[in-house]
Amino acid sequence: MFDNPRLIIDSSRAPEPGEITWRSPSNIAILKYWGKHGRQLPRNPSLSFTLASSVTDTVLEYRFKEGTDNNLIELDFFFHEAPNEAFRSRILHFLEGLRPYFPFLTQLKLTIRSGNSFPHSAGIASSASAMSALALCLCTLEDRLFGTLSDNAAFDTKASYIARLGSGSACRSIFPKAALWGASTAVPQSTDAYALPMGNILHPVFRDFHDDILLVSADPKSVSSSAGHSLMEGNPFADPRYQQARQHLDDLLMTLRKGDLTHFGAICESEALTLHAMMMASQPPFLLVRPNTIAIIERIKAFRKDTGHPVCFTLDAGPNVHLLYPGDIVAEVRGFIDLELRPLCEQGQVMNDWVGEGPEEL
Ligand code: DP6
Repeated sequence: MFDNPRLIIDSSRAPEPGEITWRSPSNIAILKYWGKHGRQLPRNPSLSFTLASSVTDTVLEYRFKEGTDNNLIELDFFFHEAPNEAFRSRILHFLEGLRPYFPFLTQLKLTIRSGNSFPHSAGIASSASAMSALALCLCTLEDRLFGTLSDNAAFDTKASYIARLGSGSACRSIFPKAALWGASTAVPQSTDAYALPMGNILHPVFRDFHDDILLVSADPKSVSSSAGHSLMEGNPFADPRYQQARQHLDDLLMTLRKGDLTHFGAICESEALTLHAMMMASQPPFLLVRPNTIAIIERIKAFRKDTGHPVCFTLDAGPNVHLLYPGDIVAEVRGFIDLELRPLCEQGQVMNDWVGEGPEEL
């Protein structure tokens, strides 16, 4: 779809060395992507809020390789200033797969420096922020060398497509506020290939929406997201789940437009628990929630019942709980967190985040 064999640098007009920096956020899915096929193609549509403070900064340095046509992608990789061989080889593998889209990559010597604003093991989807930041750098590089992505919409679409190839959920991080990924009859132009911006449909209450991340455990996950996705293939509940996600999308779009927080919370929590139900129904089954995940969920429900405040929770593919709520009750919710939830978190760790404006070039 975005492959282009003409993107080859004319060696008689070799570019000057340069660097490109993007800051890109993570995102939190309200409607979950769980189950994929082919090259990161989703089994159902998903919808997320783009976060603001959980970000990856990525610097891409490039230098034209003079006097060699070795056809190799040459890469150095630094994570928080230190060489990191595990990340380098993962990124190199990703770049190898991008040759049809960026054939000029073999003509350059590349150095990537990356770092996150949040602790590595914080249970925040770092692949979403990292892969989107890298995809944005690559698209800026293409545009700088060839002038082919000067149209903003075309740029975002290619960046989202490339980010998806790195990690499915990363394709949604390209857009401010909210994004939808996956073909749905409910949204014209929606596609499995890349995400679409959805910020424009949001009722004002969702434009100032908070996500406080309650860190139940920072241990590495026992089952990776990728392994979890593939276990959906033999899951006897997979098809009903995909059907449920489609129905949830219709309902969610309505609540996002209307600002109906009660209905929003019901869909959001059903999605979170269904995600974990799918894990428990996989073969072999696996369980990522911990006792304190359940304890926190119970406290959130009790707080909602007692105060009437429209708080709700969601879960990622891990034990940590995301507490979602509108901006006008920040003070009350933060008080509740400090008193009741923080003691249930590993070393009392809570990370405050909120719906953000999307990536920025630095
Ligand atoms: C539970 O995007 O991390 O966070 O495509 O294999 O990289 P890969 O998986 P990934 O899966 C995210 C799963 C999720 C739900 C979501 O973000 O929609």
